[in-house]
Amino acid sequence: MHLYTFGGLLAALASVQPSLGANFTYNDTDFLLNGEPFKIIGGQMDAQRVPWQEWDSRLAFARAMGLNTISTYVYWNQIEDQPGQYITNGSNNFAAYAEKAQDAGLQVVLRVGPYICGEHEWGGFPAWLNNIDNMTVRSNNPQFLERTQSWLNWLGDWLDPLMINNGGPIIMVQVENEYGFYDSDHTYTSALAAQFESAFTGGAILYTNDGPDALEAGAIPNILAETDGSTIDGPKARAKDGMKGPNMDGEYYITWLDQWGQPHQSIVGNTERIASIQADLAAALDNNTSFSLYMFNGGTNFGFQNGADWGNSTLPITTSYDYGAPLDESGRPTDIYYALREALGNYTSDLPDVPDIDPMINISSIDVKPAFYLFDALPTPQTMDTPVNMEQLNQWYGFTLYRYNVSDSVSGLLTPGVAAKDRIIVYVNGERQGVIDSLYPAGEQQNVTLDLKAGDTLDLLSENLGRINFGSLITSQTKGVIGDVKVSDTVLSGWDVYTLPLESGLDKPSGASAPGNVSSADSPIFYTGTFDVSTPGDTFLELPGWTKGVIWVNGNNLGRFWTIGPQQSYFLPGAWLEKTKNTILILNLEPSGSEGTVNGVTNRTWAVQPDPDAP
Ligand SMILES: *[C@@H]1O[C@H](CO)[C@@H](O)[C@H](O)[C@H]1NC(C)=O
Ligand SMILES: *[C@@H]1O[C@H](CO)[C@@H](O)[C@H](O)[C@H]1NC(C)=O
Ligand SMILES: *[C@@H]1O[C@H](CO)[C@@H](O)[C@H](O)[C@H]1NC(C)=O
Ligand SMILES: *[C@@H]1O[C@H](CO)[C@@H](O)[C@H](O)[C@H]1NC(C)=O
Ligand SMILES: *[C@@H]1O[C@H](CO)[C@@H](O)[C@H](O)[C@H]1NC(C)=O
Ligand SMILES: *[C@@H]1O[C@H](CO)[C@@H](O)[C@H](O)[C@H]1NC(C)=O
Ligand SMILES: *[C@@H]1O[C@H](CO)[C@@H](O)[C@H](O)[C@H]1NC(C)=O
Ligand SMILES: *[C@@H]1O[C@H](CO)[C@@H](O)[C@H](O)[C@H]1NC(C)=O
Ligand SMILES: *[C@@H]1O[C@H](CO)[C@@H](O)[C@H](O)[C@H]1NC(C)=O
Ligand SMILES: *[C@@H]1O[C@H](CO)[C@@H](O)[C@H](O)[C@H]1NC(C)=O
Ligand SMILES: *[C@@H]1O[C@H](CO)[C@@H](O)[C@H](O)[C@H]1NC(C)=O
Ligand SMILES: *[C@@H]1O[C@H](CO)[C@@H](O)[C@H](O)[C@H]1NC(C)=O
Repeated sequence: MHLYTFGGLLAALASVQPSLGANFTYNDTDFLLNGEPFKIIGGQMDAQRVPWQEWDSRLAFARAMGLNTISTYVYWNQIEDQPGQYITNGSNNFAAYAEKAQDAGLQVVLRVGPYICGEHEWGGFPAWLNNIDNMTVRSNNPQFLERTQSWLNWLGDWLDPLMINNGGPIIMVQVENEYGFYDSDHTYTSALAAQFESAFTGGAILYTNDGPDALEAGAIPNILAETDGSTIDGPKARAKDGMKGPNMDGEYYITWLDQWGQPHQSIVGNTERIASIQADLAAALDNNTSFSLYMFNGGTNFGFQNGADWGNSTLPITTSYDYGAPLDESGRPTDIYYALREALGNYTSDLPDVPDIDPMINISSIDVKPAFYLFDALPTPQTMDTPVNMEQLNQWYGFTLYRYNVSDSVSGLLTPGVAAKDRIIVYVNGERQGVIDSLYPAGEQQNVTLDLKAGDTLDLLSENLGRINFGSLITSQTKGVIGDVKVSDTVLSGWDVYTLPLESGLDKPSGASAPGNVSSADSPIFYTGTFDVSTPGDTFLELPGWTKGVIWVNGNNLGRFWTIGPQQSYFLPGAWLEKTKNTILILNLEPSGSEGTVNGVTNRTWAVQPDPDAP
């Protein structure tokens, strides 16, 4: 049990260690922690986007910037990976995350959703929802609400000891996310809110978060309705719509996200913009408006956990979710961090010193060599007349290979199903013929023309680039080949289908021979190598001259790399390294023979580069 004294407003604004039996409530103007006014000086850092070994360090940086609260999304798909089976270790361990936040002197806002957008794989939904008949996500649909209920009950039970009334740091739990941008079915949101009320009983305040223009559409009776975006427009909209309770900007944007092929978003060095953020935040606090910075630390879309936006084509999110945040992707403070610390320090009586962090490390010339062809390491296929989508194969992420034995000659334009999902590399007898990429709008994608002879093998390697996380298309997000594959007007029937989730890569099959002279006709090749470091530490891997693929170090999936940028450097956490015998595995999707040396560097490069596979 801790004892607290409140010596006036300044101390009340400071972060306080929550005590057993604490409470968090609100009246018309203020949040009240144990009955005393409390302004949420928050920032977001998603537990699942940060290696758990680095949580402590980054939470200490949050507190030392003047934050008293950390917000985090909860990605349902990563925890309930199979229906009714829950993975709670590693960076999924929200109980440990909340305890560490509490130890660091931070309250916690849990953004549960279960739809949370977040530029995350399908906005946080598990891909297996696609396999349930009549499923309509984000709607008053019995199939959907049955799954949200069991998920929320499980989550609520798990985190109950960490809720404010039970001595934990969790003060708020978010219901849905920006629903007002999507629809306005209050039957659905009320049903969902009722599930939250019965699942989360530890005294955390339930709230919604909507754009100021969509506040009423997203608000739920008897649930605190908050806004995101602007610290000025939000309170204005709340006042206009007669919303009760204190103001909070649930997402104050420092910068913005990065999408593959689009310019890098950053305000590092932009002193004017940084000064305006300082002023915004000070003005908000002076007006008793709470906020949470989106992001305080963005982190990384490790593995295949990135989402995608949709324009007239797929806009997949990069592996880095740096987000131009005050604490960069590697957990190091930027100029924005120091500027915000200066501004927010004015609202805290006990600002800790900025913590130390070990320097990034360089690793020069990691020796990687072609080890085996992907096509020599395929699992046992399923055979079917017509290709089925990835989810029907009980596969959620990664790649699916569709193989066809040609028995009758056929030639003409290839149509790989009703739409390229999401990026299909086409091979005949193991030689690359072209790439049909949904990065380009339908009608502008590469036209791959084939001339198939009896005895040829046609391969379609389909990559799931990340399910769409925002907008009306989230209703159904199936991947792989969907619908008939045709060459000219001939439907190809009779396929061997191989699932390649590649969560931790693939082992070299015994007897597989190493590729010789690598050329641009080659099918995908796994490269391997080992390396030592004098002191394990964080680094960014660079792969100059490589086109596209995936990197694993010691079995950890670092995510996708892609020459088109803007990301050219890939975060490798020091926590994943040993001093000796580190193993690196790289899936080189598009070998060329001009791959450069792989290096670990301390400073990242951002650059948009031409797409070698542009139509
Ligand atoms: C809310 O509570 C605080 C702290 O007791 C108080 O200063 C404030 O006036 C209250 N607001 C309203 C509208 O009652
Ligand atoms: C919250 O805690 C304060 C301080 O201990 C106490 O005075 C108040 O009654 C509590 N409020 C609720 C709603 O439990
Ligand atoms: C989590 O547990 C699984 C199953 O025991 C194990 O394979 C995996 O390595 C663990 N992950 C972490 C990060 O500890
Ligand atoms: C799905 O919807 C159809 C048409 O409304 C209905 O006939 C069928 O019984 C439903 N299936 C399930 C599993 O609810
Ligand atoms: C300050 O808060 C009030 C009360 O909620 C709100 O009406 C007003 O728009 C806010 N002003 C600014 C500048 O944010
Ligand atoms: C902010 O809240 C405090 C405590 O409730 C109150 O005294 C003060 O008048 C409020 N300021 C504004 C601008 O609303
Ligand atoms: C989609 O295409 C239309 C018509 O070319 C264009 O006006 C619009 O800006 C495009 N939208 C996006 C998001 O690219
Ligand atoms: C913090 O407060 C001091 C003293 O009022 C003021 O001079 C300074 O500008 C404030 N810092 C920021 C970043 O607003
Ligand atoms: C890493 O390499 C760069 C470029 O050669 C050099 O400037 C920097 O000092 C090195 N950093 C460390 C920590 O070795
Ligand atoms: C593909 O063919 C269609 C139909 O002939 C044509 O309109 C389109 O421009 C072609 N696309 C490319 C990238 O050449
Ligand atoms: C394709 O040919 C391979 C090699 O002969 C054979 O193992 C496989 O069963 C054939 N697949 C189909 C769908 O006919
Ligand atoms: C790396 O970044 C740091 C911090 O921004 C900077 O001081 C240093 O000069 C950079 N080093 C190189 C080699 O670019």
